[in-house]
Amino acid sequence: MKMWDGRFSKPSDALMESFNNSISFDKALIEEDIAGSIAWASALQKIGVFSEADCSKVIDGLNSILEDYKNGRINFSRSDEDIHMAVERLLTERAGEAGERLHTGRSRNDQVITDTRLYTKKALTNIKDSLIELQKAVVERARLDLQIIIPGFTHYQQAQPVLLSHYWMSFFWLLEREKSRIHHALISTDILPLGSGALAGSGFAVDRDAIAAELGFSKVSENSMDMVSSRDFLLETLSVFASIGIHLSRYAEDLIVWSTREFGFVELDDAWSTGSSMMPQKKNPDSLELIRGKSGRLLGNYTRLATTLKGIGLTYFKDLQEDKEPLFDSEHNLQMVLKVFTHVLLTLTIREDRIKQDLDPFLLATDMADYLVRKGMSFRQAHKVIGRIVGYCVEADIELTKIPLKKLRDFSDLFGEDVMLLYSWEQAIANRTVKGGTGWESVKDQIDRAAALMQK
Ligand code: ARG
Repeated sequence: MKMWDGRFSKPSDALMESFNNSISFDKALIEEDIAGSIAWASALQKIGVFSEADCSKVIDGLNSILEDYKNGRINFSRSDEDIHMAVERLLTERAGEAGERLHTGRSRNDQVITDTRLYTKKALTNIKDSLIELQKAVVERARLDLQIIIPGFTHYQQAQPVLLSHYWMSFFWLLEREKSRIHHALISTDILPLGSGALAGSGFAVDRDAIAAELGFSKVSENSMDMVSSRDFLLETLSVFASIGIHLSRYAEDLIVWSTREFGFVELDDAWSTGSSMMPQKKNPDSLELIRGKSGRLLGNYTRLATTLKGIGLTYFKDLQEDKEPLFDSEHNLQMVLKVFTHVLLTLTIREDRIKQDLDPFLLATDMADYLVRKGMSFRQAHKVIGRIVGYCVEADIELTKIPLKKLRDFSDLFGEDVMLLYSWEQAIANRTVKGGTGWESVKDQIDRAAALMQK
């Protein structure tokens, strides 16, 4: 038996029934569905659809369903179709005729999108909280590693020396932008659909502002057709989730490379690594590889929803039922990704000795060019001169910082004794006090500003 079978002369085919059912996954919305129904019942009571007694009966019934669900005492039946139908059936079993009145002036079209918006608000907020935890870990690392100088890379070729903390802080600011993307997604999500009915607006003039206040929405939708069709907030949410995944995968990639024997810059804690079933010596950075790998899934879920939505006319079509699984999947996986990354960062061992050994004196080439510029040469000329010196070093198999001053003067007579002052990693760092640079003061400044942001 279906709630809608009045006009049908035979039941759905069993295959059609399981094809159409969404209860297996949309049961995740039970809490939101019940909150929405409680608010709807109160709104109906205010306009006289329910007596006070019936309204309390319905609300008690709904609360008891949720409690039973949480205690594993609810069995859904095959004919339940989706969570909305299931809750209504269970309610009617408990509250009798009063339960049958609950769907007055409401459609599953405005109901499902109310539930989904409530759920998405919660999901976005939870992801934001986990982002903040990760940011705190990043700041902690940045404070801890302030003395460590690493080669900064472009093309995975050593480029210029930077503070490891500067690298960590780059992650912080990226996460800060992800947080503001979450904030935008929350604004798009935070609109009450209930009262939109199937598409034309409810036939009962309920107080929608009161429903919004009860459910914690800060706005009431302006247009019922827009509201029952709208999935833009979900697309935006999945796009932010994908963006976070993609960006985390880049940091994961760096750390994977840095943890190789060839680099040896970092070592993952045993608790966040795994072994090989065959090679006893192996310790693999699977935590980071999965973080990198999950980005494909997160992007896939965005693409999945975008492709489903493309070309659907207004207003509701059953295609839209496909919107929930990508949301649940992305939320669940991204939560794990963020939590695992936070632990990996906090338990990472930095191999300062290995990093020091690896720093290539050629990294000072830009500073040497800057030196000539300070002595009056144009940067283009200086670049050429230092380029020639580098060529000479390669040819003569000599380190850049080991060339005698006399030899340097063959390339330019602007070189003086003071060039030696450049030959320290600390000096190269100290030269970059520009705002946003890797100089100690600049990085400490970044950390202070970040810490202040975290206080807000
Ligand atoms: N289970 C449906 C969904 O998730 C609920 C809405 C059904 N509406 C309808 N007109 N068939 O989209």
